[in-house]
Amino acid sequence: MRYLTQRYSMPDDRVKATLTDIGTEELAHYEMIGTMIRQCMQGATCAELDQAGLAGYYTMHDHGVFPADPNGVPFTTAYIACTGDPIADLSEDMAAEQKARATYEHLMNMTGNEQILEPLYFLREREVVHFQRFGECLEIIQGIYNGRSSCSCRNARRRRP
Ligand SMILES: [Fe+2]
Repeated sequence: MRYLTQRYSMPDDRVKATLTDIGTEELAHYEMIGTMIRQCMQGATCAELDQAGLAGYYTMHDHGVFPADPNGVPFTTAYIACTGDPIADLSEDMAAEQKARATYEHLMNMTGNEQILEPLYFLREREVVHFQRFGECLEIIQGIYNGRSSCSCRNARRRRP
């Protein structure tokens, strides 16, 4: 959602296309993760869910797949983080990809199950590629602004370089 939202304020079609491509791919990753969670929870008894620390989750969502972090904090649109400033947004996207890579590595450390590890290896690799692609986008944008402010407001106050 973040990338599909930020794309509108990008001043270069190549960067817009990259954000659209990666944003669309991330939706497919959500489908993969949702499927993995569903497969892991499917058929689990209440006692098994309780033992896994998922009693609260079960109370709110049964065996459904609900977008929340491991502490039960639900996804919010605040995570979309669109500032409208191409340099700020792309810099944050690069950090987001590194955080996603680290999270996948932490998940891999938590399991020895090959059926879980294989898709996590794949997803981790994609985050590395996304980080690199956003780095290329940032170079394009920095070339366009060439040290000038990337603020799009016509009457914005001039800033010192
Ligand atoms: Fe990614």
